[in-house]
Amino acid sequence: MKKKIPVITIDGPSGVGKSTLSYAISNKLKWNFLESGYLYRTIAYYITKFNIPLKEKKIIPILKNIKFNFKYINNKIKVIFENKDISKKLCSEKNSIISSKIAIFPYIRKWLLYKQRKFRKFPGLVTNGRDMGTKVFSDALIKIFLITKIKERAKRRCLELKSNGFNINFNFLLKKMKERDNRDKNRIICPLKPDKNAIIIDSTNMNFKNTLQIMLKYIYKKLKNINNKT
Ligand code: DC
Repeated sequence: MKKKIPVITIDGPSGVGKSTLSYAISNKLKWNFLESGYLYRTIAYYITKFNIPLKEKKIIPILKNIKFNFKYINNKIKVIFENKDISKKLCSEKNSIISSKIAIFPYIRKWLLYKQRKFRKFPGLVTNGRDMGTKVFSDALIKIFLITKIKERAKRRCLELKSNGFNINFNFLLKKMKERDNRDKNRIICPLKPDKNAIIIDSTNMNFKNTLQIMLKYIYKKLKNINNKT
């Protein structure tokens, strides 16, 4: 029987630290990495750049022109568009909101489903997003769902935005994050929720190092059990 390529999914809302944690895990395991939010963010960027209305019918024709060009340099994602680094622009709060708004469109999700599945390559894939465990890689070997109290998430997101050159009012950001959470959790297709097999980790009172340790302990245990069985 053909051996399935193992996948680890790390889902959760914005600001839980899933990007840095999942990237660190992919480095440790030397597995491939996919930050699925950047696919939505790239589409959102095109929509703004070419003044396309937020209507699925208007977006579908431009999808074929979108190129996803991600690189990882010094542990940071770099997204290149027309030879320019647009990574910081993709992180802006405005782009986050548009990404979440287009994420409700069924055709776009289906189109991205195939793109995301192509990242499943040997020796394995670590990926993060909203529906990676419930839909995109529902057969994943390990599923983790990260949660953190909203105020802590907003604090972390504020710092992240600042480090990318965006100064944003904390209360405004908190309000926008709550709205985005609600949109991501309550959409009809692939809403943000833990899969029934996911382990839930609350990182509210933990720093990056502690959270990473807990996740790795769980992952290594699972991988050992599986290797012992095969
Ligand atoms: O993970 P992120 O914050 O970069 O994602 C930006 C938006 O993209 C998020 O608010 C909803 C959408 N998204 C999604 O619907 N499904 C995913 N797997 C990843 C992101």
